[in-house]
Amino acid sequence: MSAKIIDGKKVAKLTREEVRQDVEDWVKDGNRAPFLQVVLVGTNPASDVYVGAKTRACKEVGIQTDTKRLPDTISAKELKSTIHKLNNDDSVDGILVQLPLPNHLSAHDVIEAIDYRKDVDGFHPMNVGRLTVGEPSFRSCTPAGIMELFKHYSIPSKSKHAVIVGASNIVGRPISILLNKEEGEGKATTTVCHKYTKDLTRHTISADILVVAAGQPNLIKGEMVKEGCVVVDVGINRVADETKEKGYTLVGDCHFESVKEKASWITPVPGGVGPMTVAMLMKNTLLAAKKSIYPE
Ligand code: GUN
Repeated sequence: MSAKIIDGKKVAKLTREEVRQDVEDWVKDGNRAPFLQVVLVGTNPASDVYVGAKTRACKEVGIQTDTKRLPDTISAKELKSTIHKLNNDDSVDGILVQLPLPNHLSAHDVIEAIDYRKDVDGFHPMNVGRLTVGEPSFRSCTPAGIMELFKHYSIPSKSKHAVIVGASNIVGRPISILLNKEEGEGKATTTVCHKYTKDLTRHTISADILVVAAGQPNLIKGEMVKEGCVVVDVGINRVADETKEKGYTLVGDCHFESVKEKASWITPVPGGVGPMTVAMLMKNTLLAAKKSIYPE
């Protein structure tokens, strides 16, 4: 079998077009355009690329945005004070603090400082908690984007065994919750593997759906995957490549060539999950502006 491609670039474009239309209608109804405040601390080349993609998407869909660049020497107190000002600013709908933060800052503390009603990343414990108990919440953008891909391609998850490799708060845990939900979407049985998992293959080989978000290039190889499995590769790893102008190539956490021979569906890297993350951020920012999740 050679897998069909889950084209995240295409679905993300459709999603952005939907948001663009909704923003246009929202503004036509007399409302101001949604506003996303990005906070970028220090210098990290990958973060610059991600923030660039988010800013371009905002422009495309009619969302106003600004990036506050702060020095990597900023104290936790100063950063939290900046966030509190944004929380209290009625012209700001969404706040996104790009991660990772410099080592002296706690991401947990900084995320908790954001007003959960403006937490368009869906990282605040209030949003994660509400997601877990099935209440309306902002959903972390990558997991939300994966669910959107399943919906677009009519890939069923009900009663399937979904195995997630990686237990991060941003991807692994929330996608396990969404896939495991008994109401609405999901309805899968889920296994979450992490760095302490013994014999990873014993788990991955039994997966009908395999979501890999471990941040390790080529961790999953064809022989670790069941015939017909749906494979979602969340990894974006820079691997040195002197033949490329930039000096690196982007690869996922799966060895694409061997895994695609076993899978029924697979997301490519790049052009799979990545563009969906950005598109779902646009959706979340519009939801924040409309106060759809947390009405006043
Ligand atoms: N760093 C890597 N992914 C993300 C994301 O989705 N949101 C934020 N804020 N930082 C990130």
